[in-house]
Amino acid sequence: MAILDKHAILEKNITLLSIFAFLVVTIGGIVQIAPLFWLENTIEDVEGMRPYTPLELTGRDIYIREGCYVCHSQMIRPMRDEVERYGHYSLAAESQYDHPFQWGSKRTGPDLARVGGRYSDEWHVDHLRNPQSVVPESVMPKYGYLEDRLIDGEYIGDLLSTHALVGVPYEEAHIENAKADFAVQTDPFGDTDGLFERYGENVNVRNFDGQPGISEADALIAYLQMLGTLVDFSTFTPVASR
Ligand code: HEC
Repeated sequence: MAILDKHAILEKNITLLSIFAFLVVTIGGIVQIAPLFWLENTIEDVEGMRPYTPLELTGRDIYIREGCYVCHSQMIRPMRDEVERYGHYSLAAESQYDHPFQWGSKRTGPDLARVGGRYSDEWHVDHLRNPQSVVPESVMPKYGYLEDRLIDGEYIGDLLSTHALVGVPYEEAHIENAKADFAVQTDPFGDTDGLFERYGENVNVRNFDGQPGISEADALIAYLQMLGTLVDFSTFTPVASR
């Protein structure tokens, strides 16, 4: 009873209550935040993760500009229904190069964290042009105009530099060759050695929209086809169970 009596004193005195509430919140905050300063790394390194190629990064910008995130999340939660529908739950490392991250919380359409490789490029072209042609009940808007908007990657080096500033490991060579890497990813007959050397062998090189020239649809589809494919889940084991 004694403790309750003392608590009654606190509850009746606004100044005391404020001081104690402040103390409790401060202690709680320190307990949560302080360990982050001493942990070596808050994101477990995972094999396969690499920064986005210039073309994928451009596609990601278009994804953000068009507001795709308003209807689509990129975060598979570790619950059975989600894992069975979308695949392995999302790892922190899979969005480590996302600035800003695209996790989202609104799913008017399905989660896209692992949409890469699920459909052909042609399917994406048809679907972006007219979603109802492949999914009749779809409420997704049409994005056919992306095919008509050609892009030259003029400022792509600057975009990479900006991402490097916030911690994405783009080096001098990535930035210097950004424009060439941007163009060659849509050219299956081009010299892709440099692109593979800088970004790894798992980069998709194709004419994504099937038309001459590099369009916004090329960049967006390159981005979509990469999503969730970087980590090989047939060999991945979390640190905790190694
Ligand atoms: C108004 C909400 C809305 C917006 C905005 C939207 N989508 Fe969708 N999206 C949907 C719905 C609903 C579906 C499910 C039906 C279908 O496949 O069309 C879908 C499906 C998809 C799929 C197929 C996913 C799967 O696993 O079957 C992809 C890929 C996709 N959207 C990409 C995009 C991209 C890229 C953008 C932005 C350019 C975008 N969406 C904008 C609502 C939206």
